Amino acid sequence: MKKLIVANWKMHFTVVQAVSFLQKLRELLQVTSVDIVLCAPFTALSALRYELQKGSGTFALQIRPNISLGAQNIHAETHGAFTGEISPAMVKELASYVLIGHSERRRHSHETETLVHKKIAAAHAVGLIPIVCLGAKVGVKTELVSPFVEKDLEQELKDCLTGLSFANKEKLVLAYEPPGSISSVGTGAITTGNAADPKRVAHICFFIKRQLEQLFGESVARQIPVLYGGSVTSANIKSFSQEKEIDGFLVGGASLDVEEFARIVKSV
Ligand code: PGA
Repeated sequence: MKKLIVANWKMHFTVVQAVSFLQKLRELLQVTSVDIVLCAPFTALSALRYELQKGSGTFALQIRPNISLGAQNIHAETHGAFTGEISPAMVKELASYVLIGHSERRRHSHETETLVHKKIAAAHAVGLIPIVCLGAKVGVKTELVSPFVEKDLEQELKDCLTGLSFANKEKLVLAYEPPGSISSVGTGAITTGNAADPKRVAHICFFIKRQLEQLFGESVARQIPVLYGGSVTSANIKSFSQEKEIDGFLVGGASLDVEEFARIVKSV
């Protein structure tokens, strides 16, 4: 499986800033062996998509193979009187992926496992690929060693994923993000913080994959990349990318600096 690197820009970047990031990134990364997803604010998706298509000679969705777009959230309903919300179909016109259940949304917007489940199904219904963040239940104190981590994750996986259908080759990406490792960067400064232990993360990714096999069978589970997110930088990426159970990375703070993000991509 090709490694997947997802940038989560959170509430950063105006349209102009987002487009200039993308232009610079393409200059810095002529060819890469990894797949990249830029999870941008809704407002920037249209311009980013246009920028990615430039030169393709058509207005059809032709995003270059190694850089795709993602949103950071969707509403669980298809349409209706939900002022200020964005439906899955609206995102699908502009992007291929969507982050679902990020711990910041669970904390600030009180998203539950039930809602996460509904949003994954809603994304699948329009052909979006959900990137589902896991670990919000793990709790900051115990994440590195406690056996409760596995128990918590097992429950979270069941609550979020049970009942999903993969009958039409639906795609799914999971990202393990222990809350104590997320840099919670508000300013765009690159964290040097609390990244989890790579060996422990590899063990957890292995555990998640076994759970997926139980839920969906081996052939579906094998297609689901399990990423790690939390204070990933160019300084620590190598120690994670050596671990074969980790299929890629969800990068927050360090994805706001294009040169740093390019260094991360090149080091994977
Ligand atoms: P971080 O954020 O890389 O800044 O820790 C990761 C995330 O919140 O997805």
